[in-house]
Amino acid sequence: MQTHEIRRRFLDHFVKAGHTEVPSASLILADPNLLFVNAGMVPFVPFFLGQQTPPYSRATSVQKCVRTLDIEEVGITTRHNTFFQMAGNFSFGDYFKEEAITHAWSLLTGSVDDGGYGIDPEKLWATVYLDDDEAYSIWRDKVGLPAERIQRRGMKDNYWSMGIPGPCGPCSEIFYDRGPDYGVEGGPEADEDRYIEIWNLVFMQNERGEGGAKENYPVLGPLPKKNIDTGMGVERVAFLLQGVENVYETDLLRPVIDKAEELTGSRYGATTAPTCASA
Ligand code: SER
Repeated sequence: MQTHEIRRRFLDHFVKAGHTEVPSASLILADPNLLFVNAGMVPFVPFFLGQQTPPYSRATSVQKCVRTLDIEEVGITTRHNTFFQMAGNFSFGDYFKEEAITHAWSLLTGSVDDGGYGIDPEKLWATVYLDDDEAYSIWRDKVGLPAERIQRRGMKDNYWSMGIPGPCGPCSEIFYDRGPDYGVEGGPEADEDRYIEIWNLVFMQNERGEGGAKENYPVLGPLPKKNIDTGMGVERVAFLLQGVENVYETDLLRPVIDKAEELTGSRYGATTAPTCASA
């Protein structure tokens, strides 16, 4: 499935479920704390904080993002880009955990003929925040995900914020198992290159203060409403659905590699590049 179709199916799925389709904002917003937009939720921050009233209670978008913290990973892992697109659905005080989880599941596992991505449910795993029994039960009892494919993780992995003061909350991530050729058994806790994170569902309910990017910051208290912020990595879903090895070989970026091969006369993959560890 080509990348443009992955984007279209995402937006159509959520528009059908009553969301307003919102175009991507610019990568650069008037926020002195952020160099670039680093998540689909950034343009909606004033709605989450209750500083502005949203013109809709549900929205969906495919947002252009640059995540400066991830730049060190680019070219080393199979899954990090400098620039990427985040497909998201958002609820501003409307639906909460159950709908967020079931909407994501139905798009991922729904048949291609019905507008879904047609992913085999057996390949999917979920994580939840340590004490989030509610999300755990939704995955196990409403979705029917076997308990052995649901893992509980701590603040660094399953409590999301923009890395700066603002909205935050526990999250639940969905992972795709690429199979034993790509690493050891044991779910995302064991190997995040075999189990690729494709979608993060954030239960945006608190506000955070100054502190560490991912941990060691104070949670100041609840937001005026409980919200949903999700982000699906478009390039990650594309590489998995297209059966290629990494985010650089999709229909979107492979033509750049082909052109570089043509211009340089070198063949992609002919030699193994040194990694940072060995360089
Ligand atoms: N804001 C969350 C993230 O970027 C979910 O969209 O992972």
